[in-house]
Amino acid sequence: MAVIFSHFHTPSITMVLPKVASCFCRSLFSQSTIYNHQLLHYPIQNPIFNFNSNCQRIRTRVTKFSEASSVTDVISSPNLVALEYADLKLPINCEEVGNIRVRQHVNPLSTALSVPAEVPDWNDVFKDSSLPLMVDIGCGSGRFLLWLAKRNIGSNNYLGLEIRKKLVKRSNFWAKELSLSNTHFMFANATTSFQQLASSYPGPLVLVSILCPDPHFKKRHHKRRVLQKPLVDSILDNLTSGGQVFVQSDVHEVAVDMRNQFDSVPDMLHIDVIDPNFGCDPDGWLLNNPMGIRTEREIHAELEGAKVYRRMYQKGT
Ligand SMILES: C[S@@+](CC[C@H](N)C(=O)[O-])C[C@H]1O[C@@H](n2cnc3c(N)ncnc32)[C@H](O)[C@@H]1O
Repeated sequence: MAVIFSHFHTPSITMVLPKVASCFCRSLFSQSTIYNHQLLHYPIQNPIFNFNSNCQRIRTRVTKFSEASSVTDVISSPNLVALEYADLKLPINCEEVGNIRVRQHVNPLSTALSVPAEVPDWNDVFKDSSLPLMVDIGCGSGRFLLWLAKRNIGSNNYLGLEIRKKLVKRSNFWAKELSLSNTHFMFANATTSFQQLASSYPGPLVLVSILCPDPHFKKRHHKRRVLQKPLVDSILDNLTSGGQVFVQSDVHEVAVDMRNQFDSVPDMLHIDVIDPNFGCDPDGWLLNNPMGIRTEREIHAELEGAKVYRRMYQKGT
């Protein structure tokens, strides 16, 4: 069964695919184990295709390249993540950070995470702390931010906030390996730490992203969701005029919840209003990820046939 190539909306992928066909299995399967530990699993809520749980999948697992009838047969989510982020050339073995098997979920309301993270000396963590800052809340593995940071050295700083400590440790290790002096990852609960971190940063806060946040499906767990009113207020307070907020989720209910929160802020304009040419569907969901690369959860969700609901907002000037 073929993977639908419309998922490959990142130019680098379409360029890379033909080249890697011959060595696809060897190179990507060797990388896959590291990704398996951190794929962020929760059920896909809105499959475009109906398929029976384990039998009929969009992807086909094969162990030998010769068994695959085409390149598309060997694509699984970890491999696709490896492919999409191939140009980062991240080291597979991170002995310095130890075993990276991480817990799939951490409760952000736990006592351990109620203490705000210490504000770092921004001059220690960034080469130039006056540069415009992007904050990714719940950055997961950090690859998404590393990819952006690598392309914007000297023009932007990137801060990732994450409550899974081992991922933060590895993200910072990777940032160092890539010699990225514009990137820093913090073990920080955004709920308790965002305000102090954002307000103490010397430069302007230009972009905040919350991408595929943990959905916490059960109603009694909704209070664990990262985007709550105080965080919305804090983002708005700290965002510079013209600064942007990018949110997305493959869980419609979560996306609608985030949309409702930002729609209710008069100062936040939906990007469609600012630029009607921005590609949105009739409900105002962005058709593609405007950052030029997809997050890991997004890759996983789209591979499974789910729709990703994206919104971009801009603070009025
Ligand atoms: C489903 S993952 C998505 C990761 C990444 N943004 C992506 O799209 O691939 C959500 C991440 O948010 C982190 N997270 C959840 N609550 C958080 C909080 N209050 N502050 C910081 N990170 C949080 C989780 O540990 C997890 O890594």
